[in-house]
Formats: sequence, C-alpha cells, structure tokens
Amino acid sequence: MSKFYITTPLYYVNDEPHIGHAYTTILADVIARIHKIQGEDVFFLTGTDEHGQKVQDAAVKRNVTPQKHVDEYVKRFRNTWDKLHINYDYFIRTTDKNHTDKVKEILTSLYEKGDIYFDEYEGLYSVSEERFITEKEKEEGNFREIKKIKEKNYFFKMSKYQNQLIDYIKTNDDFILPQSRRNEILGFLKNDLNDLCISRPKSRLSWGIELPFDKEYVTYVWFDALINYISAIGYNSDSNKFNHYWPADYHLMAKDILTAHCVYWPTMLMACKIELPKTIFAHGWWLFDNIKMSKSLGNVVKPLDLADEYGADALRYFLMRNMVLGQDASFTLDAFTDRYNADLANDYGNLVNRIFILINKNFNNCIPEKGDYDSIDLGLIADIKKLQSIVIKNYNTLKIHDAVEENMRIFRKVNKYLENKAPWKMIKENKSQAATTIYIAAETLRIGTILLYPIIPDKSQQVLNSINSTPKDSTSFGELVENSKIEIIKNIFPRILD
Ligand code: MSP
Repeated sequence: MSKFYITTPLYYVNDEPHIGHAYTTILADVIARIHKIQGEDVFFLTGTDEHGQKVQDAAVKRNVTPQKHVDEYVKRFRNTWDKLHINYDYFIRTTDKNHTDKVKEILTSLYEKGDIYFDEYEGLYSVSEERFITEKEKEEGNFREIKKIKEKNYFFKMSKYQNQLIDYIKTNDDFILPQSRRNEILGFLKNDLNDLCISRPKSRLSWGIELPFDKEYVTYVWFDALINYISAIGYNSDSNKFNHYWPADYHLMAKDILTAHCVYWPTMLMACKIELPKTIFAHGWWLFDNIKMSKSLGNVVKPLDLADEYGADALRYFLMRNMVLGQDASFTLDAFTDRYNADLANDYGNLVNRIFILINKNFNNCIPEKGDYDSIDLGLIADIKKLQSIVIKNYNTLKIHDAVEENMRIFRKVNKYLENKAPWKMIKENKSQAATTIYIAAETLRIGTILLYPIIPDKSQQVLNSINSTPKDSTSFGELVENSKIEIIKNIFPRILD
C-alpha cells in the first residue's frame, strides 16, 4: 500500500482561527480524503505553534501565563477543525514534550557538529516577524516594527548549504510549487544567504524552548516549529513511523511562509542529513476587500459563524470551488451566497429532491429496476464516464476548483437528462422506461456524490447512506442495487433567501 504524508502549517495560537487558516486545513483534508478513498496509507498532520513573541504577547494581554493561554486557545483550533469535519490523523502542539525533546536533541547535535555557533550581531530586527531582516527587505517595505539590535546570539550555518539547496531546487521540478514560487525562491537565493539566528535571549523573550547548551536563551520560534514535521512522526525514535512516512509528500501553506519552508527548513534537514520533503505547495491568499485577511488588520471572517449558519460542507465547498490553487481569491458574503444557491441548492440539491420524490411517489421508496438503454441513456452514461475521469485527473493534479466544477457538470447533465425524458409524464404510459430513466439518474447521482465526498464529506455520506452506498464504493456505472429500499432525505441544501 503506498503511503501519503500531508501537513498544514502549525497555526499560532495568539487568536482564533479565521477563514485563511480554515482554507489550508480544509484543502489538506480534501487532499487527504482523495488519497484515503484511493486506498492509500495516509498520514495527515496539523497542529499549533505555541511558542514565541506573538503568543507571549497574547498571554500578557490576557493577563494569564503563556501555558494557560495556549492550553485554552488550542481548544479553539481543535473545535473548529472538528466542526469543519477535518479528519486529521495527528494534532501536534509545539509545547508537547515529545516535540520539545526532539528540538533539543537536534539543537545539541548541530551544536556539537559545529553547525551552530555563538556570535555578536548587529542588525535590523522586525518585532512583528520576529526575525532579523536585511536592508533590502526593509526597503521592500513588508516588515513592521523595525528596530536596530546589537545582541549575542546563536546562529545556524544556513549559508553553508546554499549551493546544495540551489542544486536541489534546480534538479527537482516539483520541490516548490507552483512554478512561480520556485522562481521566486531561486531569485532570492541569487543573493548570499545569511546564517540564521536561532536563539532569543530570555531577557527579551522567555516563552520558548530553552537551548540545551545555554540556559540564558530560548529557541527561535521557527527553528522550533518547523521540526514538528519530523517530530510528529517519531524522528530518531523506536517507532517505525518516521521511516514509513518521511519524506512528506506535501507541505501545504500560503505564500506568506514560503521562505521559512523553502530555505530554512531544507537547509536544517540537510544539516541533519535527512531527505527533503517531496513538495512544498504554496497557495494564494483569501482577500477581503482586496486586502489579505489577517488578525492585525481586523478584517477576518470567522469560519465557524458561516459553518454554524449554513453547514460546514457549504463553507468547504465554497472555499474549494472559488479559489484557483496558487492564485489569490476574494471573499465576500455575496460570492458565498451566489455559489451556494447556484451549485449546492440548485444543481445538486434540486437533483437529490427530484430523484427522491420520483422514487417515493412511484416506486414505494425502492430503487427501480432498469430495462434496456436507449441512445439518450447511452449518451449520458458515456458523458458521465468522461467527466468522471476528468474529475479524478483534476483531483490528482491538485486542480481542485476544476474538479469541483466538472463534478457539478455531472449533476447538471442529469438534470437536463431528466427534463428531456420527463419520467414524471412517462410513468403512466411506460412505467418500465420511466424506471430505467430514474435508475440511471439515481446511479449517476451516486457516482457524482462519491466523487464529491472529499469536498462535502458530511452531506455526501448522508445522501450515500440513504441509497445504501458508501464513499468507498466503486464508481463504475450499474452498481446501484435495484429494488433496494432507500431513505428519503428532504432539502439537503435549502436555498439561502436574500
Ligand atoms: N506559525 C507559523 C507557521 C509555522 S509552520 C511550521 C504561521 N502561523 S499562522 O497562524 O500565521 O498561519 C499562517 C498560515 O495560515 C498561512 O501560511 C496559510 O496557510 C494560512 N493563512 C493565514 N491567512 C491566510 C489568508 N488570508 N489566506 C489564505 N491562507 C491564509 O505562519
């Protein structure tokens, strides 16, 4: 059985999760489900980044200890993911002992090997980003709260691995995706890399993993957090999990944290002589009024508000359908409502209603028996087969929004087919022909619903349960069992009224 290891970033627990966090986590869940239903051995990791300045500041603001703060706030993430049907395999917190021990072990080994050294450094420090920045980065203007700092710190010899990293990126086309991000990183690597400052003096920041070789310092939050991807699966322990799942197949994130993942992380792995992940995939941002959604700008949309009102699957559907992977997308309530009404209430919901009503009224709640197919039936079956393979191909190449759109075309085709054939009229003159039409429609609904399962797992299960099928069933045409009793569901996606 082939394995598949996928990760999300570890989110800072300084505030509540918002739509941006929900997007990456839902995307990872969708991809994990696609691989799970294909029978792969999937490991889907998510969790929380609990150390560092942002979290310490949030705790101070609430007048609680950082530990109390993270213990309370981590629940918000877990609860949100549960409500959004996120089926992760493991949730890691960077305050877990397994993780902190592993970070210390790696620090010790790199220090002993000479890849970490102590030095005094004077430079520009961005308090908001918690790192030293270059003059050039300051000029580009993306950093806030910049101070000049002169400090003694520990540094990781990142520059030593620069050429090895460039060679690796150049010879591994899928290492950084999309291509535009790969070019961005190769551009960044044209300049000499600085070594990475991996410590913070406790006088400035005390909330972090203490350096095993100097009690006066804690570990830089990124050096700590990135290690989660291997500590979560038991790197350098008795467990077999690491050898089994590593290298990760996908590290998912948005473009904001590309450098940390494409430069810090691979050079850290090179220093530890660990294989690099297969693909780092950076998607775009959800924008609100054309500005990135972020807590500091106060323009966040809370995913739970929408999920509570319209259902988690409606939110999952919207996020997956309306963002082209790699590009930015705009979040508005109107766009959400339009998409919901057009696709879920109309195309899908109406089809489910129609088929169930026909079976209820005319076939005593049992799947009708099919007879011979005519040319229209055969045409539809052939079209569905084609669309089905396009959906799967799009899923497997991460064109999720295209997969969803092609999936919807299946339902639209069946709606048209039903209008054409009008079985509600046919039923009186030719019941067996009407039965065939309804069987074909119900069977196509089953296939389309299985395909849509990764996106809307809850509603999809409900529809499949009602016709005695499951998301793992075959999607070959003709599997739906004739004469089996079904359970009628009413109004699966009720229309949102203006
Ligand atoms: N803690 C670090 C990550 C450490 S990973 C070892 C961090 N946390 S974060 O809470 O700021 O989360 C950033 C991630 O949240 C982004 O990379 C992305 O996955 C998601 N998003 C946050 N805002 C987003 C949007 N507006 N749009 C899309 N995704 C967004 O960085």
